[in-house]
Amino acid sequence: HLPVDVDISKLAPGQQMTAVWQGKPVFILRRTPEDLKQLQDAALVSDLRDPDSSVLQQPSYAKNWHRSAVPEYGVYVGVCTHLGCVPVYEATVSGANAGRYNCPCHGSKFDLAGRVRKSVPAPYNLPVPPHVMVNATTLRLG
Ligand code: FES
Repeated sequence: HLPVDVDISKLAPGQQMTAVWQGKPVFILRRTPEDLKQLQDAALVSDLRDPDSSVLQQPSYAKNWHRSAVPEYGVYVGVCTHLGCVPVYEATVSGANAGRYNCPCHGSKFDLAGRVRKSVPAPYNLPVPPHVMVNATTLRLG
């Protein structure tokens, strides 16, 4: 598989876009400073099934609290780890406790780092694909 370069120059803070990598949708989210604060909220973290990403779902450089190469950009395979539906990004909900990626099939909820919440059917965080910022407006997948 060849790497895929994605132009993220049009992505405003708080927006997300979907790219295709190895036949799968990949969500690219440009996080706001509030989003980054929310990812570290203690109430949210205590409601995550795998807050430290100990189940291998990301490259080693994304095994951190924001699960990505650069905190501002979240990158995850947009396929629910329950039975494979595509979770929907909720841009406007507020409060650390709201689900930010909600699966339409059986209600699994993920946060702005693709981390799965407790008490939902999905067993694992959304996978993070290999990615790197090639320059300020290009993200490379793979
Ligand atoms: Fe997402 Fe079942 S496929 S909750």
